[in-house]
Amino acid sequence: MIKKKIYKFFKDKTEYDKLFFAGRANTLIWIISEYLKSKKNPTIILPSTLCVSPAVIFKNLGIKIIYVDIDYRTGLIREDLLIEKIKNFKIDAIFYVNLFGNVGKNSFLRYARKKGILLVQDLAQTFISYSKNKNKKFIFGDIIIISFGYSKIFDLNGGAILLAKNKNLYEKLKEIKLKKNSKNLDHVKNYYLHWYHNDFSCSRIINITHTKKFAKKLYVRPYNSKLDKKIFLSLKKLNKEELRRKKILSLYKKVFKNKKIKILNNDVSLLPWRFCFLVKKNRDKILKVLRDSKYDASSYYLALKNYKNSARLEDKIINLWLDNKINKRKIYRQYQIIKNLL
Ligand SMILES: Cc1ncc(COP(=O)(O)O)c(C=O)c1O
Repeated sequence: MIKKKIYKFFKDKTEYDKLFFAGRANTLIWIISEYLKSKKNPTIILPSTLCVSPAVIFKNLGIKIIYVDIDYRTGLIREDLLIEKIKNFKIDAIFYVNLFGNVGKNSFLRYARKKGILLVQDLAQTFISYSKNKNKKFIFGDIIIISFGYSKIFDLNGGAILLAKNKNLYEKLKEIKLKKNSKNLDHVKNYYLHWYHNDFSCSRIINITHTKKFAKKLYVRPYNSKLDKKIFLSLKKLNKEELRRKKILSLYKKVFKNKKIKILNNDVSLLPWRFCFLVKKNRDKILKVLRDSKYDASSYYLALKNYKNSARLEDKIINLWLDNKINKRKIYRQYQIIKNLL
């Protein structure tokens, strides 16, 4: 019953009328990888800045990855370089990520469509908008991935949704059945903490080859129907959450106006994930001082490949929370701390 309501919500807001649930977005990425394996020498394009896990899955399932550098001003894949790759290589799929909630010009779309390339649009770093028009304009994937996992806009500690329009593609993806694994995610956290404490970069993690069994344990998670209600309640809050986030973001932008700060969320049209900006110097020191003052701050995302702009972003980025614990006073306090170190 609630599932039907969720279905209706997405259909009304996005016009995508095929949907299924998974335990996490990475499980959907696993299914997409299995689907791609039916192609000859399957090849996918990934932006060189991205959460490490999708890359680990593609690589471990034998999908060839071509990385494309990003635009360091938005965190989005560079479309000129993407078009070049589409024109010159056999590409089966593009993994498009609206990093930080930003949207692009999408000039690559007509080239990709002409060549029949599968477009996977991952909204884990943003969300669909409450406004149907915005979704119409900025959501274009043949497959859409939505996550309710750790650190996402609606963090329910798990749960993901795949949206599609094409019946044939949808049926094929739905047919791919994965053996169920534990519902407990502790082993995943421990696994990443291990690399983190051993100072592994993303590009090194990607190159570790797991056994399929171990990788499955990390990434394949069954959907828990108890999430239905929580997901539905999140969707009901979407309009409010979108307005709240945008309001907080514009306050951040106003307070953080400084020649030495380059704000990344300038073209946010979907939901902003965090307030993200680059500093010219002292990035690590700023992070430390913020954390010592009990302000959580992060340096996501690291480069998957050391291309120029991804490396630059990895070195200089700071992101601050937009969750409902943030308020005007905290924004000013954070700026005071940072300003003295710029
Ligand atoms: C772009 C992107 N896709 C997928 C994932 C994985 O999401 P989940 O935790 O639901 O598996 C993440 C995680 O941060 C992500 O940033």
